[in-house]
Amino acid sequence: MSWNVAIMGATGAVGTEFLHLLEERNFPLKSLKLLASSRSAGKKLTFRGEELTVEELTENSFEGVDLVLASAGGSFSKKFNPIAVKAGAVVVDNTSAFRMDPDTPLVVPEVNPQDIAKHKGIIANPNCSTIIMNVPVFPLHKVNPLRRIVVSTYQAASGAGAAAMEELKVGARAILDEEPFEPKVLPHPAAFNVFSHNSDVGENGYNEEEMKMVLETRKIFHSPDIQITATCVRVPVLRAHSESINLQFTNPITEDEVREILAEAPGLRIVDDRPGSYFPMPKDASGQDDILVGRIRSDISQPDGCGVELFVCGDQIRKGAALNAVQIAEML
Ligand code: A2P
Repeated sequence: MSWNVAIMGATGAVGTEFLHLLEERNFPLKSLKLLASSRSAGKKLTFRGEELTVEELTENSFEGVDLVLASAGGSFSKKFNPIAVKAGAVVVDNTSAFRMDPDTPLVVPEVNPQDIAKHKGIIANPNCSTIIMNVPVFPLHKVNPLRRIVVSTYQAASGAGAAAMEELKVGARAILDEEPFEPKVLPHPAAFNVFSHNSDVGENGYNEEEMKMVLETRKIFHSPDIQITATCVRVPVLRAHSESINLQFTNPITEDEVREILAEAPGLRIVDDRPGSYFPMPKDASGQDDILVGRIRSDISQPDGCGVELFVCGDQIRKGAALNAVQIAEML
């Protein structure tokens, strides 16, 4: 079977990665439609050696389309996903618009592929930080149920889109040249700086990114009782997120058991060289499919033996977004 596919937001950071992945993974395509704003209409993008023309996204864009890969932003997904579904397409949605909708499966293929079959036209792709945490944590949770997760993120500019990545480069150059620089996409200068994630802060003091990690993980794991707290921070990295993850299990678990479970787990690679002090780094995770996992150690602050520390890195644009969505589409 082959598919008529449309990419919504084809010119963005995740949209262009969709193009690379469909080509690289030889996705069974009948046709490919590239949709973006009127600003990009007429622009050419290369796919399998051919130039494809970007079209403006409109209500009539989905005639004859079987599959939509959506990454133009939440407001566009809210408006256009139902139109695409009505036209007969299945939407794999990279935005947060439908993630917590009880009728929409939220899927990490390594964790809950069985949920794909429950879709009613839309399947949601989780938040990038959630995916990067879930891939290494779920196989452990399956063996020894988690009671609590404490996670701190070190997030790349790519999560705020292609314009934020460009702003990081331009801002870095301006600082090196001792020239004035005012950020326009991110709220603070990203280069040579670290700041709290730029999503809105709610009444409980948590920002939206942090609450996504909490609520989405519970939904994906089908484990509503796991206690999760997150602190999400932006760092001057272009496209791979890092996360420090502290886990509290129900039963004691040793470092060796963690290593054995993770060595067999899909979608990740252990990078944990203590003598060489070589551990996961965003530079190594960038452009890779696997989540890199290291700093595997028992938590000395949990004397009952139920605590484990991990440090992980994953490419935000690939497994954090486009790759996860394409894997869902492949399973469809
Ligand atoms: P465009 O490049 O024409 O603005 P990113 O996440 O990297 O910021 O990318 C966002 C994607 O969403 C881009 O492909 C962008 O297209 C697209 N987009 C933004 N505004 C619209 C719009 N009004 N209609 C359709 N697509 C849009």
